Amino acid sequence: MPEDPIEISPAIGCLYGIGVGPGDPELLTLKALKAIQRVPVICVPQAANRRDSYALSIVKDYVKPEQEILRAPFPTDDAEGAAQAWSEASELVAERLRKGQDVAFLTEGDPMLFSTFSYVMAGVKEICPEAPVEIIPGVSSVMAAAASAGVPLATHGQRLAILPAAYGLDDLSEVTSKFDTVVLMKVSPNIVKTLAELEGLGLTGQSTYVRRVSTDREKVIRDVTEIKDEDLDYFSLLIVKGNPRKRPQ
Ligand SMILES: C[S@@+](CC[C@H](N)C(=O)[O-])C[C@H]1O[C@@H](n2cnc3c(N)ncnc32)[C@H](O)[C@@H]1O
Repeated sequence: MPEDPIEISPAIGCLYGIGVGPGDPELLTLKALKAIQRVPVICVPQAANRRDSYALSIVKDYVKPEQEILRAPFPTDDAEGAAQAWSEASELVAERLRKGQDVAFLTEGDPMLFSTFSYVMAGVKEICPEAPVEIIPGVSSVMAAAASAGVPLATHGQRLAILPAAYGLDDLSEVTSKFDTVVLMKVSPNIVKTLAELEGLGLTGQSTYVRRVSTDREKVIRDVTEIKDEDLDYFSLLIVKGNPRKRPQ
């Protein structure tokens, strides 16, 4: 009697979390580029209120027609909806991994800093714990903005804080009294309130606004009182020099 054919299950694919840098494709690492060119599936987060994925636009010249582009749409103003979206994205990614396909999940900047990759990584680890995960760091917008502005983030013995300004500025006074440099990300929706807070703290002259760093729309504004509506952009941040030694501890 012929033996049943042995079913060989395909090796499980690897999930790559890849940082593609802040915008200039020349800031892609060689490791990121090699992984992006090697995988059959590229997954990109795409905000529901945007026409395309920023991360994908950075690497578009390196994507081949035969690579599958898996778009993970997510709402920006609905936390519950976003959680559902990430869980669906994790399922789609896990489906490819189980077929033995490697998946590159692209994120702008670095994947471990305010990145959608964190949610998908957690989801995939839950539903497909056997899949290996490799994270390839990228040049964060924080580092690129400091470079473009020529503002060192921290020197010997200094302290650096990175805050998501969109979630509340109540602690700005405390943070700038404790840290030498404070980077405010996701700053544009709250810019008016932020500038008023900085003015109240006497920090306006110690703040630099950086928009779309490393792209042809880059703008560095050293006098933040001159920020105009047309300068505002989701892809912008503020580097604020604090006064830790001048304030009471
Ligand atoms: C969801 S976070 C992503 C951060 C990203 N993982 C990183 O390492 O830069 C998005 C925020 O990063 C900042 N950002 C990202 N790209 C930027 C760019 N090219 N120029 C200025 N700020 C940028 C903005 O503050 C934006 O609101």
